[in-house]
Amino acid sequence: MLTPVHFFSHGSTMMLGEESTSASYWKSCGDEALKNGIKGVIVMGAHWDCYGDQIQVSTNAQPGKSPVAYVHPEKYVDYALNPDIPTAQRVISMLAAAGFNASGNESFDWIHDVYLILIRMFPAQCPPTTIVSLNARYDPHFHLKVGSTLRSLRGEGYLLIGTGGAVHNLYRNRWAPMLRFRDNFAQETPPEAWALEFRQSVEDVLLKTSGPALRRAMTRLMKHPHYRDAHATDDHFMAAMFVAGAAGDAQDEGSRAVLGAETWELTNMCNSQFTIHSAV
Ligand SMILES: [Fe+2]
Repeated sequence: MLTPVHFFSHGSTMMLGEESTSASYWKSCGDEALKNGIKGVIVMGAHWDCYGDQIQVSTNAQPGKSPVAYVHPEKYVDYALNPDIPTAQRVISMLAAAGFNASGNESFDWIHDVYLILIRMFPAQCPPTTIVSLNARYDPHFHLKVGSTLRSLRGEGYLLIGTGGAVHNLYRNRWAPMLRFRDNFAQETPPEAWALEFRQSVEDVLLKTSGPALRRAMTRLMKHPHYRDAHATDDHFMAAMFVAGAAGDAQDEGSRAVLGAETWELTNMCNSQFTIHSAV
């Protein structure tokens, strides 16, 4: 039995401070993970990328937290992070053996794309966690291969998470209600057609394909006619590639995926939360 793989859309920073069905779902996934006795979390986010052909893994034993706007500090400053240095070293070795230019980073401070999710999933205590960077060339196949390289860790009880966004274009969000009234969920008008179309395509890929077909379909989404509207930059969609790699092996064929929750924010940002369960 392999652990499930999550593709979480972390949305704006206010998803940390405000309640939502997504926040409840993250908590239920954390509860499930603890019940199953996970060994640790291995996560690829959206806010840390490396130049050239590099990929890095956080080896900072005492990381700080980058501050988050629009959230009261009491929601995150005292949460103790729990970097898993032995697993980080192991992940570096696995990535290097697969041909990646992988190295440790001893000075990286954690960012809210990762710790927002950890606080929501595991409010009582952060499990041992390993953070893998993106590569700034944003090659979907590169990030898919990172996921496939680490897939075997699912069999050892590690929980693999990609935290990015299903529809996440900061340039197309309607920020006024959040900036003026701290209301990120205002939705004064319906989402625009391109956002609805791309959101549906992401759901279709995750829920209607599995195994290698999931990998092909996920990378193909970057050729979707509305992809560039949904993602002005590629950073928040690489985690989806990581997830497809981690849960898209031939042995994953027939795996069941669920859309566990979905929260629209800022009119056009769709925070869909997906889980792909083990096929066996
Ligand atoms: Fe983000």
